[in-house]
Amino acid sequence: MEKRIPKHVAVIMDGNGRWAKNRLLPRSAGHRAGMKRMISLSEHIFDCGVEWCTLYALSTENLNRPQEELDALFGLFREYFTKNVETLKEKKISLRVIGNLQLLPDDVREVIGRGEEETKGGARGTLVLAIAYGARQEILSAVNSAVRAGMEVTEESFSALLSTEGIPDPDLLIRTGKEVRLSNFLLWQSAYAELYFTGKLFPDFTDKEFDKALVAYAERERRFGKIGK
Ligand code: FPP
Repeated sequence: MEKRIPKHVAVIMDGNGRWAKNRLLPRSAGHRAGMKRMISLSEHIFDCGVEWCTLYALSTENLNRPQEELDALFGLFREYFTKNVETLKEKKISLRVIGNLQLLPDDVREVIGRGEEETKGGARGTLVLAIAYGARQEILSAVNSAVRAGMEVTEESFSALLSTEGIPDPDLLIRTGKEVRLSNFLLWQSAYAELYFTGKLFPDFTDKEFDKALVAYAERERRFGKIGK
């Protein structure tokens, strides 16, 4: 069978905390292992021919976690957006961040902005990081913009009011870490995404495990509500 590659893959990176707990390590060590995995995995995803990759790094609800854990995550964001931008530029991958960045410390927001600016125009693919992101909040903000503008929206014009404006809908949505839910991630955009759930905790979600998701995707028949073959 011809291998069908999704244009846009979205990943809910779950299980860092449990990965650390299993090793009697602090949760922050799990997030660091997650970041390491995320860097290699995103390279692999683009090497497979995927053009858009969205990774869920922090939900609006995650912002209610203890300050110590948030500080560790903010530290990783600072590190990622300062140390990885050069490589992304070389690989012609542009960075885009979606979410309510006002909820982040000023300096984190600044490094994110610089990362986006410096990688602009990278034409091989776009790495979208969802940080302080919540789909319901995103939808409400779009609804309120439409109401304020007195606009009657269509699917297209509504999509253009979301933070994912210009990004094609995900074809394949993967969640690691055993839970079988979407947790407020890309609710509008995932209407027709193929869903793939794995028990692998994110730091253990190897490139080979990702390839299994690609095989499962290639075997799905996408009907978009129509009658099958
Ligand atoms: C969910 O696992 C994961 C997160 C809340 C953070 C994800 C962050 C990274 C992968 C690394 C850093 C990211 C960037 C963009 C540099 P969890 O902590 O909820 O795991 P658990 O369910 O096992 O507790």
